[in-house]
Amino acid sequence: MKGFQECIQIYRKAFFESDSVSVPRIEELVRRDQGKLFSFSRGEEVFGFALVYIFRTASFAWLDYFAIHESVRGQGLGTDLLKRILLWLKESSPTVQVLLFEVGDDENEIGTFGKGWLRRVRFYSRVGARILEGVPYLFPGYGEKGPIPMALLAFPLQSQTTLQKGFVERAITEIYNTVHLRKSDDSVLNSFLNRIPAEIKLSALTP
Ligand SMILES: CC(C)(COP(=O)(O)OP(=O)(O)OC[C@H]1O[C@@H](n2cnc3c(N)ncnc32)[C@H](O)[C@@H]1OP(=O)(O)O)[C@@H](O)C(=O)NCCC(=O)NCCS
Repeated sequence: MKGFQECIQIYRKAFFESDSVSVPRIEELVRRDQGKLFSFSRGEEVFGFALVYIFRTASFAWLDYFAIHESVRGQGLGTDLLKRILLWLKESSPTVQVLLFEVGDDENEIGTFGKGWLRRVRFYSRVGARILEGVPYLFPGYGEKGPIPMALLAFPLQSQTTLQKGFVERAITEIYNTVHLRKSDDSVLNSFLNRIPAEIKLSALTP
Protein backbone atom coordinates (compact mmCIF):
# COMPACT_ATOMS: atom_id res chain seq x y z
CA MET A 1 0.00 0.00 0.00
CA LYS A 2 1.62 3.25 -1.17
CA GLY A 3 2.53 5.60 1.67
CA PHE A 4 1.45 3.16 4.40
CA GLN A 5 4.85 2.90 6.10
CA GLU A 6 5.29 6.70 6.08
CA CYS A 7 1.86 7.10 7.70
CA ILE A 8 2.79 4.51 10.32
CA GLN A 9 5.99 6.40 11.15
CA ILE A 10 3.97 9.56 11.89
CA TYR A 11 1.46 7.45 13.84
CA ARG A 12 4.17 5.90 16.04
CA LYS A 13 5.62 9.31 16.87
CA ALA A 14 2.30 11.07 17.51
CA PHE A 15 0.56 8.55 19.78
CA PHE A 16 1.70 6.73 22.87
CA GLU A 17 1.33 2.99 23.05
CA SER A 18 -1.54 2.65 25.50
CA ASP A 19 -3.62 4.77 23.09
CA SER A 20 -2.73 2.82 20.01
CA VAL A 21 -4.26 0.05 17.98
CA SER A 22 -1.49 -2.32 16.82
CA VAL A 23 0.02 -1.70 13.40
CA PRO A 24 -0.86 -5.23 12.11
CA ARG A 25 -4.48 -4.56 13.16
CA ILE A 26 -4.52 -1.25 11.24
CA GLU A 27 -3.00 -3.02 8.24
CA GLU A 28 -5.69 -5.69 8.40
CA LEU A 29 -8.56 -3.18 8.68
CA VAL A 30 -7.24 -1.22 5.71
CA ARG A 31 -6.63 -4.38 3.66
CA ARG A 32 -10.17 -5.60 4.37
CA ASP A 33 -11.44 -2.18 3.29
CA GLN A 34 -13.02 -1.52 6.69
CA GLY A 35 -10.64 1.36 7.19
CA LYS A 36 -9.65 4.02 4.69
CA LEU A 37 -6.26 5.60 5.07
CA PHE A 38 -5.95 9.24 3.98
CA SER A 39 -2.45 10.55 3.52
CA PHE A 40 -1.38 14.12 3.02
CA SER A 41 1.61 14.32 0.73
CA ARG A 42 3.57 16.64 -1.48
CA GLY A 43 5.46 14.76 -4.16
CA GLU A 44 6.81 11.62 -2.54
CA GLU A 45 6.81 13.01 1.00
CA VAL A 46 3.98 12.13 3.39
CA PHE A 47 3.17 14.86 5.96
CA GLY A 48 0.10 13.52 7.65
CA PHE A 49 -2.54 10.87 7.73
CA ALA A 50 -5.94 9.90 9.06
CA LEU A 51 -7.71 6.60 9.32
CA VAL A 52 -11.48 6.54 8.77
CA TYR A 53 -13.82 3.59 9.22
CA ILE A 54 -17.28 3.58 7.67
CA PHE A 55 -20.06 1.59 9.28
CA ARG A 56 -22.73 1.89 6.59
CA THR A 57 -25.38 -0.29 8.28
CA ALA A 58 -25.08 1.76 11.47
CA SER A 59 -24.96 5.10 9.53
CA PHE A 60 -21.82 6.47 11.14
CA ALA A 61 -18.13 6.80 10.42
CA TRP A 62 -15.23 6.80 12.86
CA LEU A 63 -12.18 9.03 12.63
CA ASP A 64 -9.14 7.36 14.11
CA TYR A 65 -5.56 8.46 14.59
CA PHE A 66 -5.32 11.73 12.80
CA ALA A 67 -1.86 13.32 12.80
CA ILE A 68 0.34 15.78 10.94
CA HIS A 69 4.13 15.46 11.03
CA GLU A 70 5.48 17.63 13.86
CA SER A 71 7.78 19.57 11.50
CA VAL A 72 4.80 21.07 9.63
CA ARG A 73 2.13 21.49 12.32
CA GLY A 74 0.34 24.81 12.66
CA GLN A 75 0.37 25.56 8.91
CA GLY A 76 -3.23 24.60 8.16
CA LEU A 77 -2.50 21.11 6.81
CA GLY A 78 -4.58 19.37 9.51
CA THR A 79 -7.55 21.65 8.81
CA ASP A 80 -7.23 20.98 5.07
CA LEU A 81 -7.07 17.22 5.49
CA LEU A 82 -10.06 17.25 7.84
CA LYS A 83 -12.13 19.29 5.38
CA ARG A 84 -11.20 16.91 2.56
CA ILE A 85 -12.30 13.91 4.64
CA LEU A 86 -15.67 15.53 5.50
CA LEU A 87 -16.32 16.39 1.84
CA TRP A 88 -15.38 12.90 0.71
CA LEU A 89 -17.69 11.36 3.32
CA LYS A 90 -20.66 13.52 2.35
CA GLU A 91 -20.19 12.69 -1.34
CA SER A 92 -19.36 9.01 -1.07
CA SER A 93 -21.61 7.98 1.84
CA PRO A 94 -24.79 10.10 1.96
CA THR A 95 -26.43 7.77 4.52
CA VAL A 96 -23.68 8.39 7.08
CA GLN A 97 -25.09 10.77 9.70
CA VAL A 98 -22.02 11.62 11.77
CA LEU A 99 -18.27 11.26 11.82
CA LEU A 100 -17.50 10.30 15.42
CA PHE A 101 -14.14 10.37 17.17
CA GLU A 102 -12.55 10.40 20.60
CA VAL A 103 -10.20 13.03 22.01
CA GLY A 104 -7.91 12.15 24.88
CA ASP A 105 -5.30 13.98 26.86
CA ASP A 106 -1.58 14.30 26.38
CA GLU A 107 0.44 11.54 28.04
CA ASN A 108 1.19 13.57 31.16
CA GLU A 109 -2.40 14.71 31.60
CA ILE A 110 -4.40 11.49 31.51
CA GLY A 111 -7.90 11.87 32.88
CA THR A 112 -7.65 15.60 33.43
CA PHE A 113 -8.91 17.00 30.12
CA GLY A 114 -6.03 19.43 30.26
CA LYS A 115 -4.41 21.95 27.96
CA GLY A 116 -3.46 19.52 25.16
CA TRP A 117 -6.99 18.17 25.11
CA LEU A 118 -8.48 21.66 24.94
CA ARG A 119 -6.15 22.66 22.12
CA ARG A 120 -7.18 19.64 20.04
CA VAL A 121 -10.89 20.11 20.79
CA ARG A 122 -10.58 23.77 19.70
CA PHE A 123 -8.89 22.65 16.48
CA TYR A 124 -11.77 20.25 15.67
CA SER A 125 -14.44 22.76 16.78
CA ARG A 126 -13.19 25.31 14.27
CA VAL A 127 -14.07 22.81 11.52
CA GLY A 128 -17.55 22.19 13.03
CA ALA A 129 -17.10 19.36 15.54
CA ARG A 130 -19.45 19.10 18.53
CA ILE A 131 -19.04 17.41 21.91
CA LEU A 132 -21.46 14.60 22.80
CA GLU A 133 -22.69 15.99 26.10
CA GLY A 134 -22.93 13.64 29.07
CA VAL A 135 -21.39 10.56 27.41
CA PRO A 136 -18.88 9.11 29.91
CA TYR A 137 -16.83 7.44 27.17
CA LEU A 138 -13.87 5.19 28.01
CA PHE A 139 -11.12 4.19 25.61
CA PRO A 140 -10.50 0.52 26.47
CA GLY A 141 -6.72 0.98 26.90
CA TYR A 142 -3.93 -1.26 25.71
CA GLY A 143 -0.98 -2.71 27.54
CA GLU A 144 -0.72 -2.19 31.27
CA LYS A 145 -2.79 0.97 31.50
CA GLY A 146 -6.45 0.46 32.17
CA PRO A 147 -9.35 2.26 30.46
CA ILE A 148 -8.77 5.94 29.68
CA PRO A 149 -11.53 8.59 29.98
CA MET A 150 -11.88 10.52 26.74
CA ALA A 151 -14.43 12.87 25.23
CA LEU A 152 -16.55 11.70 22.33
CA LEU A 153 -17.01 14.25 19.56
CA ALA A 154 -18.91 14.30 16.28
CA PHE A 155 -19.03 16.12 13.00
CA PRO A 156 -22.80 16.19 12.29
CA LEU A 157 -23.11 15.58 8.53
CA GLN A 158 -26.85 16.31 8.39
CA SER A 159 -27.02 19.37 10.64
CA GLN A 160 -28.31 17.39 13.65
CA THR A 161 -28.19 19.04 17.06
CA THR A 162 -28.92 15.87 19.09
CA LEU A 163 -28.32 12.12 18.84
CA GLN A 164 -30.40 9.33 20.39
CA LYS A 165 -28.98 7.00 23.04
CA GLY A 166 -29.63 3.86 20.92
CA PHE A 167 -27.65 5.28 18.00
CA VAL A 168 -24.67 6.20 20.16
CA GLU A 169 -24.78 2.88 22.06
CA ARG A 170 -24.73 0.91 18.81
CA ALA A 171 -21.90 3.05 17.40
CA ILE A 172 -19.70 2.65 20.50
CA THR A 173 -20.38 -1.10 20.65
CA GLU A 174 -19.42 -1.38 16.97
CA ILE A 175 -16.16 0.48 17.63
CA TYR A 176 -15.34 -1.78 20.56
CA ASN A 177 -16.11 -4.90 18.46
CA THR A 178 -14.46 -3.96 15.18
CA VAL A 179 -11.59 -1.63 16.05
CA HIS A 180 -10.64 -2.89 19.52
CA LEU A 181 -11.71 -6.53 19.09
CA ARG A 182 -13.68 -6.40 22.36
CA LYS A 183 -16.87 -8.41 22.77
CA SER A 184 -20.25 -6.81 23.41
CA ASP A 185 -20.20 -8.11 27.01
CA ASP A 186 -16.84 -6.36 27.66
CA SER A 187 -16.73 -5.06 31.23
CA VAL A 188 -15.25 -1.65 30.32
CA LEU A 189 -17.86 -1.11 27.61
CA ASN A 190 -20.69 -2.06 29.92
CA SER A 191 -19.40 0.11 32.74
CA PHE A 192 -20.52 3.27 30.91
CA LEU A 193 -23.05 2.33 28.19
CA ASN A 194 -26.03 2.46 30.56
CA ARG A 195 -25.00 5.93 31.78
CA ILE A 196 -25.49 7.50 28.36
CA PRO A 197 -28.41 9.99 28.45
CA ALA A 198 -31.57 9.23 26.43
CA GLU A 199 -30.97 12.26 24.22
CA ILE A 200 -27.46 13.54 23.66
CA LYS A 201 -26.89 17.20 22.88
CA LEU A 202 -24.20 18.02 20.35
CA SER A 203 -22.63 21.05 21.99
CA ALA A 204 -20.24 23.62 20.66
CA LEU A 205 -17.16 24.10 22.79
CA THR A 206 -17.58 27.12 25.03
CA PRO A 207 -14.28 28.99 25.37
C1 LIG B 1 -3.94 18.05 15.90
C2 LIG B 1 -3.16 18.12 14.57
C3 LIG B 1 -3.61 16.99 13.65
C4 LIG B 1 -3.45 19.47 13.91
O1 LIG B 1 -2.76 19.57 12.67
P1 LIG B 1 -2.11 20.96 12.17
O2 LIG B 1 -1.73 20.82 10.74
O3 LIG B 1 -1.05 21.37 13.13
O4 LIG B 1 -3.40 21.91 12.32
P2 LIG B 1 -3.68 23.34 11.67
O5 LIG B 1 -2.41 24.00 11.30
O6 LIG B 1 -4.72 23.18 10.62
O7 LIG B 1 -4.37 24.08 12.91
C5 LIG B 1 -3.58 24.49 14.00
C6 LIG B 1 -4.25 24.02 15.25
O8 LIG B 1 -4.03 22.62 15.45
C7 LIG B 1 -3.89 22.35 16.84
N1 LIG B 1 -2.52 21.89 17.10
C8 LIG B 1 -1.38 22.24 16.45
N2 LIG B 1 -0.33 21.61 17.00
C9 LIG B 1 -0.80 20.88 18.03
C10 LIG B 1 -0.21 19.99 18.98
N3 LIG B 1 1.10 19.73 19.01
N4 LIG B 1 -1.02 19.38 19.87
C11 LIG B 1 -2.34 19.64 19.87
N5 LIG B 1 -2.96 20.46 19.00
C12 LIG B 1 -2.20 21.06 18.09
C13 LIG B 1 -4.12 23.66 17.55
O9 LIG B 1 -5.51 23.79 17.81
C14 LIG B 1 -3.68 24.67 16.51
O10 LIG B 1 -4.24 25.92 16.72
P3 LIG B 1 -3.54 26.89 17.79
O11 LIG B 1 -2.11 26.98 17.37
O12 LIG B 1 -4.30 28.15 17.62
O13 LIG B 1 -3.68 26.27 19.14
C15 LIG B 1 -1.63 18.04 14.82
O14 LIG B 1 -1.27 19.01 15.72
C16 LIG B 1 -1.12 16.70 15.34
O15 LIG B 1 -0.79 15.82 14.56
N6 LIG B 1 -1.03 16.56 16.68
C17 LIG B 1 -0.50 15.33 17.29
C18 LIG B 1 -1.44 14.17 17.10
C19 LIG B 1 -2.84 14.47 17.62
O16 LIG B 1 -2.99 15.02 18.70
N7 LIG B 1 -3.85 14.08 16.83
C20 LIG B 1 -5.23 14.29 17.18
C21 LIG B 1 -5.72 13.16 18.01
S1 LIG B 1 -7.38 13.46 18.60
